[in-house]
Amino acid sequence: MKIAIGNDHTALEMKKAVKEHLKQKGYEIVDLGTDSSESCDYPIYGEMVGRAVALGQADLGIAICGTGVGISLAAGKVKGIRACVCSEPYTAKLSRMHNDSNVLAFGARVIGIEMAKMITDTWLEAEFQGGRHQRRVDMIMDIEGRQL
Ligand code: RB5
Repeated sequence: MKIAIGNDHTALEMKKAVKEHLKQKGYEIVDLGTDSSESCDYPIYGEMVGRAVALGQADLGIAICGTGVGISLAAGKVKGIRACVCSEPYTAKLSRMHNDSNVLAFGARVIGIEMAKMITDTWLEAEFQGGRHQRRVDMIMDIEGRQL
């Protein structure tokens, strides 16, 4: 499975750790940066992660900024993207099972690296359950076609 990963300057060390962890588990990683600790704008990286997933260049995406909020908002603006900020494994698991999340976000200033790895593993191992959840996800995605 191919995972796109992107981050801002606050999350460089966490990105490196999560990336290495996933590589060791056999995932293919598409690292979209930033690879610098210079201050940068998280929307750039959120959009890149979203686009990589929406275009099928990656199966799923991971986006990390200080809180996970800004970068998830940016990723979620890409058509077809369901980005969720998850600070613990339960929400991460249910975001896959019920919401079919395709971009996972978390905050490098909020959680530690070991928690980030655990959240990531739980999220990647969970499967979308379909059924009534598919109807609800379809309802969410239909909103994209009803813009002002
Ligand atoms: C950067 O200072 C910070 O605003 C960013 O990493 C993120 O937390 C935004 O949501």
